[in-house]
Amino acid sequence: MALKLPIYLDHHATTPVDPRVVDAMAPYWSDDFGNPSSAGHVFGWRAEEAVAIARERLASAIGASDASEIVFTSGTTESDNLALIGLARAQRGRRDHLIASAIEHPAVLDACRFLAGEGFSLTILPVDGAGLVDPAAVEAAITDRTLVVSVMAANSEIGTLQPIEAIGRICGEREVLFHTDAAQAVGKIPVDVQRCGVDLLSMCAHKLYGPKGIGALYIRKRRPRIALQPLLHGGATRGASARARCRFRSSSASRARWSSASPTSMPRPPD
Ligand SMILES: Cc1ncc(COP(=O)(O)O)c(C=O)c1O
Repeated sequence: MALKLPIYLDHHATTPVDPRVVDAMAPYWSDDFGNPSSAGHVFGWRAEEAVAIARERLASAIGASDASEIVFTSGTTESDNLALIGLARAQRGRRDHLIASAIEHPAVLDACRFLAGEGFSLTILPVDGAGLVDPAAVEAAITDRTLVVSVMAANSEIGTLQPIEAIGRICGEREVLFHTDAAQAVGKIPVDVQRCGVDLLSMCAHKLYGPKGIGALYIRKRRPRIALQPLLHGGATRGASARARCRFRSSSASRARWSSASPTSMPRPPD
């Protein structure tokens, strides 16, 4: 006799994959299974095209100005670690102070504590009775040594939506980078990296009816460039060096090549 499962009420932890996602992914298990780095044949071009479309869609979903601002990761934990540890290591010797809220996910707090062990100073901001970070406290904590402020967009336990627009404005005015862990926000509430002044944004698929094992980090394209030291090396396909190589921005040539070679039912992003 089949076991009767209880009703699942833990969608902040993870979500089931939506049947529409299953359908959209179906071609990629066994037909379009190529490696996007395989530049010499149609299987690789089709995979590259699929990755480029996913990157464009994700960029447009969060208001990013360019698809090359999206780096694919294995999930929010990796995105948070790449944002904070990658940034801190790239900036070592210039700015050495980090600010995070007390109710960040361990992927942020433990990354910050790890950096504190490497010599960075860390300010943990308390929250009020409603779980909110006070933007004035962020402003007061910023010094001329502050590298980054990390405040999550939506809390995974209590659902608080942080005033990230106000915090982003303060960070912009004080010329401090702003990272937000938006794992619980993207796909649930409108998230616009321009409006919120976000420089780095972490997200993943499995909180919004996508599969486990896929995440992304938005890295604002700006001058001077936001340099991140990679945690994993050799990740050009994920977009880790997208701005250096702009591999996917020049993918129209490969699209034309394989589109004429082999028709596909692959969904297209809206114009
Ligand atoms: C706010 C937040 N950040 C990070 C994570 C870790 O996400 P992932 O499982 O994609 O690594 C979670 C998951 O619970 C989360 O809620």
